[in-house]
Parts: sequence; structure tokens; C-alpha cells
Amino acid sequence: MKLTDNEKRDIVNLIEQGKSLPEKYRFLLFDETKQVELLWNGKSDEVTNIDLPFQIIEQVDEPRNEKIKVAQGSLFGGSKENDWTNKLIWGDNKFILSSLLNGPMRTEIEKNGGIKLIYIDPPFDVGADFTMNVNIGDNSYEKKPNVLEHIAYRDTWGKGSDSFLSMIYERLILMKDLLADDGAIFVHCDGRLNSHLKVTMEEIFGSDNFNNEITWKRQTSSGYKGKTNIGKNSDYILFAQKSNLFQYKPQYIEYSEKYIKERFNKTDPDGRKYIDLPLGSKTTKERIEKLKAENRIYYTATGGMRKKNYLDEIEGIPIDDVWTDIKLINSMSDERIDYPTQKPESLIKRIIDLSTKEGDIVCDFFCGSGTTAAVAEKNNRKWICSDLGKFAIHTTRKRMIGIQRELKNNEKNWRAFEVLNLGKYQRQHFIYDGKNERDELKNINRKKKENEFKKLILSAYKAVDISDFKTIHGKKNDSFVSIGPINQPLSRDHVEEVIDECLKNKIVSVDILGFEYEMGLFPTIQEEAKIKGLRLVYKQIPMDVFDKRAIAKGEVVFHDVAYIEFKPKFKGKKLSIELTDFAVFYNEDNFEVDEKIIPGKSKLYVENGQIIEKIKDTKGIIKEKILTEKWHDWIDYWSVDFDYESKPEIIKFKTPEGKIEEEWTGNYIFENEWQSFRGKHGSEKLELKSSEKEIFSKKTKVAVKVVDIFGNDTMKVIEVKI
Ligand SMILES: C[S@@+](CC[C@H](N)C(=O)[O-])C[C@H]1O[C@@H](n2cnc3c(N)ncnc32)[C@H](O)[C@@H]1O
Repeated sequence: MKLTDNEKRDIVNLIEQGKSLPEKYRFLLFDETKQVELLWNGKSDEVTNIDLPFQIIEQVDEPRNEKIKVAQGSLFGGSKENDWTNKLIWGDNKFILSSLLNGPMRTEIEKNGGIKLIYIDPPFDVGADFTMNVNIGDNSYEKKPNVLEHIAYRDTWGKGSDSFLSMIYERLILMKDLLADDGAIFVHCDGRLNSHLKVTMEEIFGSDNFNNEITWKRQTSSGYKGKTNIGKNSDYILFAQKSNLFQYKPQYIEYSEKYIKERFNKTDPDGRKYIDLPLGSKTTKERIEKLKAENRIYYTATGGMRKKNYLDEIEGIPIDDVWTDIKLINSMSDERIDYPTQKPESLIKRIIDLSTKEGDIVCDFFCGSGTTAAVAEKNNRKWICSDLGKFAIHTTRKRMIGIQRELKNNEKNWRAFEVLNLGKYQRQHFIYDGKNERDELKNINRKKKENEFKKLILSAYKAVDISDFKTIHGKKNDSFVSIGPINQPLSRDHVEEVIDECLKNKIVSVDILGFEYEMGLFPTIQEEAKIKGLRLVYKQIPMDVFDKRAIAKGEVVFHDVAYIEFKPKFKGKKLSIELTDFAVFYNEDNFEVDEKIIPGKSKLYVENGQIIEKIKDTKGIIKEKILTEKWHDWIDYWSVDFDYESKPEIIKFKTPEGKIEEEWTGNYIFENEWQSFRGKHGSEKLELKSSEKEIFSKKTKVAVKVVDIFGNDTMKVIEVKI
């Protein structure tokens, strides 16, 4: 540090007086002085190094047997590639990235050549990202963000662009470390923050490795937009490479028919079209002789020689950094999934084609509706995708099953994929993640807030506060109450801790309250607790708990989580499953709903597991219509594992000494053997009876997983004797 004695004294004095230091000290005090960098309030280059184990909650190996098209000479569809299982991971990508980087999965990634491409399309459209439209018959219900999504939204946009930049900065540093040395990253953004992001990417990747800023012209200027100002019709895709080892694969745009007609206007006797171009002053005599021998010389009327360039040998016009030939997904498009921020497959295909080859690993850590996974799978790339929203994960799962079926039917190969959770969501990782003191202070405040939040939930649940336990927070009549975390899904670990504490303290009944439940949590744990003499009930915390008026009026209702009923059916040794009942108990945003409806309009809302349309006439009189008339109206997808306990779930983790070890979680992997789901825009009806499977043992445990129209899944397991 090159500070004079005066400067040192000045700094000490200012700090003692609690004053801030003048700007000039920034470049004198810190180790690394970057030439150009973007600063914002809260910028920190400390990056998490948490390593949480991944838990496989579902494996989709084989698409169910559809009617396979019999092509000439072949009786079978495509088959499964066994070299890699694609990964769809549910959770916050900060922890996913850091666990991929620091945990055992990295070895598997490196064995497969490393990550060659990361495409991300983070949530820029401030409000729209977590609000989904769910179709119910001809109506569309706008699903509000859940608490976890609210929190992610607050973390991302709470302080405007400062918090967005902090969110993305840490993740970009992690992504750079994850990329293979010859890999590349593409960050999709719109015109609001592209300049900030460009500087940030140059800082992280080095300005030499910032390759280009691609302008994607989404659509032509509409009359409306063009009249009030210059129309904003472009997105930007910022492209950086990890190092100069990256190899660009040239891409071309086909010539238009008009261009071909105008320019390739000469034809050889064999029908080949060509354009004639000057030979060039440096063309040698030998070269001219060779061209003559190949009939590639065109003689002009005056006897001059030019070179024939054949249309069938030219790939087209090389692309540049303004893309105008890729259109937005329109309402009639076949690939449209009704995911608000869905991007066109042709856009992602161009990015995948220019940066990877077949067999490479492609990632998208903000995957939304799974466009990157879809294009990767169709083009024989391996993929890892993640999203924070359950609805996004479910949308991607359905889309990928559809693609597996399509590939199989078209006699092409596909890869299996697994759905993973970040297991052992341990509280301390979220509350204290080893950062500087400022964060510690933040954590004290966060703890205080969490206590207030617990009190709020207990009062809404009409339970009393108790403080003698670790995982139990209250009591309601004869049942004890445990509240799950606010900022993460309620995990198996949490439930197990509650069970241990109850058994130790001879507690026989406990209600567990949670906003969001880890996928695959339910099947066996409730049964196991029952055997040990503990009644365990899961309850859903409704969003109304944040509405003080609703609490005061005593209108907050906590419902049981979803309920499934199914029947096994036998024909000899052949077992099929019939789904006979399903119920959800949702209430969503329905406080004082009547006042909110404008006369002459209607509004959909969810109450006690029904989606209801309330129509207010011009006189203010309200009529109600239940849209979810049948129990299966709630189901979007269901699937069957005929032998649930055949595949124990093993997690890999690194010991403090850096050794990789394996451990059985006590859970099993749900193998998706048969599934039925609603297709896009009602194109496929839901079947309620599965196909048959031959069972050779005397008994089997059958698991049925149901995903409701909001993307939440519930599972039930029963033992079936043959
Ligand atoms: C703009 S959308 C991506 C759309 C996608 N490109 C497509 O074609 O469907 C952004 C996605 O990022 C997800 N997301 C936001 N914050 C996240 C986080 N911290 N971790 C993982 N996913 C996140 C949102 O749930 C949303 O689905």
C-alpha cells in the first residue's frame, strides 16, 4: 500500500469520526485495481463455496410406449443413450452452481468433457417472471408467485438494479469457474441493463474474452410503438468465452429466393446454378488451369475469364451480430407452451450450433419452460438445467417427456433425465454463509425478523408460542406445532428433526406448517412416524398470513396438503393403476375479493380447493361459477412407479479430507415408468388408468405421483400383494 504518513493519519481520523473516506482512497487501499469496472451499492466479490448434496427425486428413463411409427425396414423406435443422464435441478441456482463447482458432480461433468455452453435468460421482466397463466378449460387463471418466489423476486429486484447486479455478479463468477476452458457463455437481456452487464462480464471474463454483443430483433416495429418513440424491439445477447481456446463454428443464413433469382442467374447444362465472380489478381496460372479442367471458368462476351461459384456449394450468408431472421413465438406457434418468458427454439439452436458439437454439455441455470433443454436434446447435446420455480420445473419435465416420445417415434436416440433437489437445505447455510461481518449483522436482523414471522404464523394458526424446543414452536389444543422455514422448502431433514424431538419428548401429535414442501417428501415418512406412535400432519401456510386484516378477522385457513387415492387392478400378473381421487385445499389471494372486482367484469380465485369465477354485473351483484367441477380438473400430470423401492437414493458427498463418499438417504428414486398429462392447449386428454405392467414378485410397492395444475407435486405409496 503506497500511503503517505499524512494519508494514513487522515484515514484513521475519518474512521474514528465515523465519516466516509474520499473517493481517491479506493485506488490506494485495495489490492487489485481494475482498469474499468462497474460499481454499485453492495458489490462484493466474495462468492459462496457451499457444497450441498443433490438428491435425485425422479428419473425419467424411457418415454412410455406410444404407438411407434413403423418406418421402412425398421420395427423399432430410437433407443436410449447410456453415456449420461441429463439433469433438471429445482432450487436457487446460486447454491446449485456452487454445489456443481465444489461437489462430486463436477467429476462426472469433467469426465464428459466439461460444460461447453451456458445460456442464461435471467428474470429481467421485473413483474412477469413468477406470475403464470394456468389454463382451466377455456379460462385462464393467473397464478400468483408463492412465498419462495416472492423472496427470490425481492432478492433480485428489492433494491432495483443494485440488487439485480449483486445477484447476477456472484452467479456469473461461479458460472465462469464452471465453464470448460474452451467453453462460452451467452447472457440474454433486454435494453434496460445490457450496458451494465457488458461491463460486468468484461470485468469477470476479461475484455479480451468478451466476444460480442448480439442484437436480436424480435419483431418489426408496431405502428403504435413506432409513433410514440423509437420502437424498442430488440433483446441483447452478451457472448463471452472462457479463454481463447473457444472455437467458433460458423453459421449461415440461407439465401432468399429473391437473392438466388437475382444473383445466381446462370445455369450449367446439368442444371447447376452459379454466380460468376472475378478471378482475383493473385490467381496463379496453375490455379486457372485447374479451374478450367473442372469447368469452373465462365467466359464473358468479350472473352474475359471469371470464376463460377455454384449455389449448391455455398452455405449461405455468414451470420453477423444482428439477428433479424428469428421470429418471436406467436400465438399459433407449435412450440408455444404459455410460459410468459419462453424464447424461440430457433434462437437457442443458433447459439448451441455456433458454440458446441454433438455430445457436449449445455447448461441453462434460469431454464423457465426448458427451451435450452429441449433444443439440446433434439440436437444430441447433454444438458443440465435449473429453475427456482416448481411450475418451471414441471413445465420442463412435461416438455422433455414429450421430446423423448417424439425422438423415439422418429427413430432417433434420446437420453434419460433426472429431476433433482438440492438436498439437506441446512438452515445455517442460508442464515450464515461465512461472509464478512456486515453479513453477520444482517443475519442477526434476519433472525429477529424470523422470530416475528413465527409469532405471526402461530397467531394466525391460533396456537400458543412455546420456546422449550428446537424444532417445535407452538401448541394448539393437544397438538404441537412446528413451523418450516420461510425462505426455503420444507425438507426431509427438517421433518426428521421434528420426529426425533417429538419421540424424545413423548409427543404424540404434531402439525408441521410449511409454505412449500420439498419434492418427494411425503411418501414414507408420515407412515414411518405413525408406526412409531406419532401423528404427523402437514399443513399449508396460506399467503393470507401476511395480511394483518385477515388475521384480525380470523379468516386465515391452513389446509392439509393434497390427497391422492388410487386402486391397483390385476389381470393375472398384470398390474395397472386407476387414479380414483385427488384433492387440493388451496386458498389463494381471496381476501376481500368481492370489493376488488370491477362491475361488469369477472375474476377467478381459489377457495377451499376450487377455482371459482366471480362475475359482477353492472349493478354490483355477484354470481359464482365453479370451474373445477371434477376432481381430476386439478390434475395436470400423473405418473406411476410400479416398484418404488427398487432404486435406493444414494447421494455422493465430499468428506472434509476431500474424499468422495456415498450414503443412502433413506429415500427411493421415483422411476417414472408410465405417465399421462394434459397436452399443450388441451391437445391431449388426461387418462385415469395406467397401462399394464407384469409383476413377477409376490408383492410390490406402487408409487403414484400427481402434479396439480399449479406445478405442485404429491406422492403416495401403497403396498400391493399379487
Ligand atoms: C426469463 S425466465 C427464462 C425463460 C426461458 N429462457 C424459456 O425459454 O422459457 C427466467 C427464469 O429464471 C427463474 N429464476 C429466477 N431466479 C432464479 C434463481 N435464483 N435460481 C433459479 N432460477 C431462477 C425464474 O423462475 C424463471 O423461470
